[in-house]
Amino acid sequence: MDKLVIHGGHPLQGTVRASGAKNAALPILIATLLAPGEHVIDNVPELVDVSFTLSLLGRIGCPSLIPAEGGARVRLDTTRVAFSEAPYDVVRKMRASVVALGPLLARCGHARVSLPGGCAIGVRPIDQHLKGLEALGCRFELEGGYVNGVVEHLRGAEIHLDVPTVTGTENIMMAAVLADGVSVIHNAAAEPEIVDLACFLRAMGARIRGEGTDTIEIDGVPALRPARNPYRIMGDRIEAGTYLVGGAITGGAVTVERAPVAALGPVLDTLRQAGCEVTVDGDRVHLRRDGDLRPVDIETRPHPGFPTDMQAQWMALMALAQGTSTIRETIFENRFMHAAELMRLGARIELDGNTARVHGREQLTGATVMATDLRASASLFLAGLAARGTTEMLRLYHLDRGYEKLEAKLAALGAQVERVPDDVRVRTGVSADDRAAI
Ligand code: EPU
Repeated sequence: MDKLVIHGGHPLQGTVRASGAKNAALPILIATLLAPGEHVIDNVPELVDVSFTLSLLGRIGCPSLIPAEGGARVRLDTTRVAFSEAPYDVVRKMRASVVALGPLLARCGHARVSLPGGCAIGVRPIDQHLKGLEALGCRFELEGGYVNGVVEHLRGAEIHLDVPTVTGTENIMMAAVLADGVSVIHNAAAEPEIVDLACFLRAMGARIRGEGTDTIEIDGVPALRPARNPYRIMGDRIEAGTYLVGGAITGGAVTVERAPVAALGPVLDTLRQAGCEVTVDGDRVHLRRDGDLRPVDIETRPHPGFPTDMQAQWMALMALAQGTSTIRETIFENRFMHAAELMRLGARIELDGNTARVHGREQLTGATVMATDLRASASLFLAGLAARGTTEMLRLYHLDRGYEKLEAKLAALGAQVERVPDDVRVRTGVSADDRAAI
């Protein structure tokens, strides 16, 4: 398995471009199932999760074409849907495949989707997805680890979600756009990726209002058609935020281009409170830190609160602040797995339920670390960039799910990082630096 070797202690300086947003790309690619025909989607990030999504669509009968040299434009043909199933071996690898449930039911009238189960950050049930789809007329049966759904006639309904779930809101929206009549989703998620999905659905002919607020209204239409123009996915706010924290934690100066500036608001405000100079110029965000890092308490909240997907990165930053800060995680029940690994780099963190108290210190020192999920991995490479000495990060596959061209982007910012294929070391017993001599 590959590992990332980080020689820390060098301030990040320079410019990177935000890639397309993972959490917008996944539902948008799946939403193409709602409109039979050929679709062109731009700014699709090259990520392992995007490959999983395209392979799921391929297995359903919808082939895709990506430029051989790599690139951000994906062509998808959803003229024919041969199977309405998201099997266990796909959902197990990427729980977001559960957003195929709503579109498959709307397109085929039946769907079989593996139950995702829990993951490293929490139990993550899908009861709210099912509740919303049931209100639209779907019926479900749980059998052998699968949700089997059928619907004869989708009809609009008022839906009150108990929690503003992101993928749940997406699933319900994607069925409601083809329902007969009006649907209203109360306590809907308001994340920017939901707004992007709504824009894409609208480009295919859907009638949606209120996305980005907690009440989404949808007038069902009889059919959708592929968008006339290539649809461009929004920039990734979490990726952009991660590189900005990279500038902050190393005391550098980083510019992120093509940043989704409005969506980044809560993170930019918090970085300013921590003593960073943050300026915005069109879709470019500049961050510089010369002075001390001030401790800032955060509590994760649904948008427009501080995003849970930036909590781990914030913890890494606060590990180097001049004082103590408190971090409260209110979205997921088990999202502090990075704390113990940060402590291996010297961070001083006390955990008490969903609260972490981080006692900042002058210096972290490199160590070997590994993470259990994507954002935990991001927090560890950030800490490694700031730490004195060398940090080796194992289990890189998490990062490959959510950070496009990670090493190239970090290198563009002057970081000293390299990916070392571990199999060379295991097979030959020599380090990657000696590979050329073999
Ligand atoms: N929840 C329920 N019942 C449901 C659905 C959710 O109780 O039916 C609970 C969850 O257990 C959790 C809370 O509601 O405690 C919020 O979960 P949500 O459903 O909003 O999360 P998600 O849709 O599974 C998406 C992102 C996550 C991001 C969360 C929160 C995608 C593909 N994933 O997950 O992204 O953390 O929203 O913003 O959009 C990541 O990118 O690293 C990531 C984990």
